[in-house]
Amino acid sequence: MNVGIIGAGNMAQALLSPMKDFFSQSASEIKIYTPTNTRAQVLAKILNGKAVDQLEDVADCELIILAHKPQQLREVSEQLKLKPSTAIISLLASIETGQLKSTFGVDKVLRLMPNTPAQVGLGVVTCFYEQKDGAFFLPWVDSLAKSSLVHRFEEESLIDLMTPELGSGPGMVLEMIRIFSHSLEQKGMGAKEAMRLSAMVFEGSGALVKRTGETPEELRNKVTSKGGITQECIRHLSEQHLEKILHDAFKAGHNRAVELKTAK
Ligand SMILES: NC(=O)c1ccc[n+]([C@@H]2O[C@H](COP(=O)([O-])OP(=O)(O)OC[C@H]3O[C@@H](n4cnc5c(N)ncnc54)[C@H](OP(=O)(O)O)[C@@H]3O)[C@@H](O)[C@H]2O)c1
Repeated sequence: MNVGIIGAGNMAQALLSPMKDFFSQSASEIKIYTPTNTRAQVLAKILNGKAVDQLEDVADCELIILAHKPQQLREVSEQLKLKPSTAIISLLASIETGQLKSTFGVDKVLRLMPNTPAQVGLGVVTCFYEQKDGAFFLPWVDSLAKSSLVHRFEEESLIDLMTPELGSGPGMVLEMIRIFSHSLEQKGMGAKEAMRLSAMVFEGSGALVKRTGETPEELRNKVTSKGGITQECIRHLSEQHLEKILHDAFKAGHNRAVELKTAK
């Protein structure tokens, strides 16, 4: 199968580079297009493919991976005429499979919603494809699952509904790491050490949940002795309605995902 990749930025590099062995087994030819050609050449080197000069050069590929920005969809679709049998794997946030099918006149679409820790092999990728296309896409999803935690939704709308927690989640967690780190700095710790230790608090807590199999609530109760320091911190967060603040943020994020669909 020949594969065309459009866009070779941060997310394409993060998701596709770890799949290089799978590409070499499954793709007879890999063509990569980016307008400046620079990042196409970088990815081509990793995947043992070829950077091409024109978008039209990938049109004859049996599988196209869309890894440009959603705002560039119209421009790309105007120049790229695909055969109805072409399959598409899309990384485009907020763009539904139905829209891609009608825009390109194709029938097989796998939609992926990755998050940024994919860059270090710790990503979460949610995905949707129709049951009828399972046999075609499953090897690609399985290969992706070797470097990221992949979750397939039966219903496509759940991707957008859960994108605030899973796709935007790292942004919110990074903001919290910044706040922890900033507080340590204000108390006199050096910036680098404050950042290193704060990041470890989040990494370690996540690992505790994954490795023990206990719920976050059980683990939290274990470190929250009555009248102790942690209990006092959590009591304060709860009085300030932390859970409601986060739920409101998730709702705002989902509203934006819905707005973005009609904005493009
Ligand atoms: N980053 C995230 O956290 C994240 C999370 C979930 C989903 N996504 C999705 O992943 C996709 C890529 O995002 P990214 O963060 O990797 O973006 P990026 O780093 O900005 O890369 C975008 C790529 O698209 C290429 N491009 C620009 N204009 C183009 C055009 N007219 N036709 C074809 N290609 C064009 C760029 O080419 P040059 O190299 O020549 O500039 C670049 O290689 C987006 O659709 C985004 O919604 C990203």
